[in-house]
Amino acid sequence: MSSHTGYHRAQVVERVDWTDELFSLRVSHTPLDFVAGQFTKLGLETADGELISRAYSLVNAPDTQNGHEFLITTVPQGKLSPSLQALVAGDSIWVGDSAHGDLTRAFVPEQTQDLWLLATGTGIGPFLSLLQGRQLAPRRIILVHGVRFARDLAYQALIHKLLNEYQGQLSYHPVVSREPVENTLQGRIPALIDSAALQDAAGVRMSPQHSFAMLCGNPDMIKDTIKSLQNQGLERYRQATGGNIIHERYW
Ligand SMILES: Cc1cc2nc3c(=O)[nH]c(=O)nc-3n(C[C@H](O)[C@H](O)[C@H](O)COP(=O)(O)OP(=O)(O)OC[C@H]3O[C@@H](n4cnc5c(N)ncnc54)[C@H](O)[C@@H]3O)c2cc1C
Ligand SMILES: NC(=O)c1ccc[n+]([C@@H]2O[C@H](COP(=O)([O-])OP(=O)(O)OC[C@H]3O[C@@H](n4cnc5c(N)ncnc54)[C@H](OP(=O)(O)O)[C@@H]3O)[C@@H](O)[C@H]2O)c1
Repeated sequence: MSSHTGYHRAQVVERVDWTDELFSLRVSHTPLDFVAGQFTKLGLETADGELISRAYSLVNAPDTQNGHEFLITTVPQGKLSPSLQALVAGDSIWVGDSAHGDLTRAFVPEQTQDLWLLATGTGIGPFLSLLQGRQLAPRRIILVHGVRFARDLAYQALIHKLLNEYQGQLSYHPVVSREPVENTLQGRIPALIDSAALQDAAGVRMSPQHSFAMLCGNPDMIKDTIKSLQNQGLERYRQATGGNIIHERYW
């Protein structure tokens, strides 16, 4: 049996298809020391035994014994993601034995009163892990998910369960860019910050004194959203000086 340094072999337990190109994979439990919000690697062997692997964020909280879960979009010409989408229960997969990433509770300053979790596409994954880990202390948590179409709004049942559990501490704001949806913000996250439509929907103003933002997903969204947040007075987080914004680019 082959082995790959830095990986454990696992089996696919379940694949849930949200749309034609968006799916979740749950894989059997492997030893993986991670904190909520981090990513590890998933890999598949080619016919000649080469491992092709990429980074994927964990959606589950660290203390679950139910395997590890990932939310994945298929990049049509991609080397790995189309093969991940073809997996079915029982198939083998390689899971990294370490996890990394800064979208973790440790980076959220104690004085944070409002925590903005701003995601596009599969970038919502690490925020669902953080929320399920129930480690977030700020008075208000504002989860914002930007997608192209309403059908891309995955994990509605989990999000509604979390909204109940957080009892008013958490609010959820889907943002759909390519079709009008009743009672839903339309457009892109940075423009909605610039116009204050997002802050109005959340009922929270941003301020460098009490706001902290975590950004995840599309690199152009991250670039543009940082500018919009800076216009609100927020600054990128740096270890030496602190700040209000951390991010993780997916490509
Ligand atoms: C820290 C980190 C965490 C990540 N977590 C996730 C995750 O939870 N879920 C997830 O689906 N992906 C995630 N990604 C992206 C993932 O690692 C792969 O890059 C992606 O699945 C494409 O791999 P591929 O082999 O199919 O495409 P490749 O053959 O590697 O690349 C094709 C090209 O597609 C572009 N690309 C990569 N990802 C995307 C994307 N999502 N949308 C559009 N274009 C893209 C890149 O420009 C890349 O050059 C993460 C990436 C990083 C760096
Ligand atoms: N073959 C297909 O038809 C097809 C369809 C869907 C996805 N895909 C594949 O899946 C990948 C990921 O798709 P995805 O829908 O999850 O992610 P995505 O392309 O990152 O789009 C998610 C959301 O991010 C928004 N966005 C893009 N650039 C932004 C910016 N600069 N600032 C703020 N928001 C921005 C998009 O708005 P806009 O809508 O305004 O761009 C959309 O609302 C695609 O890149 C593609 O590879 C393919």
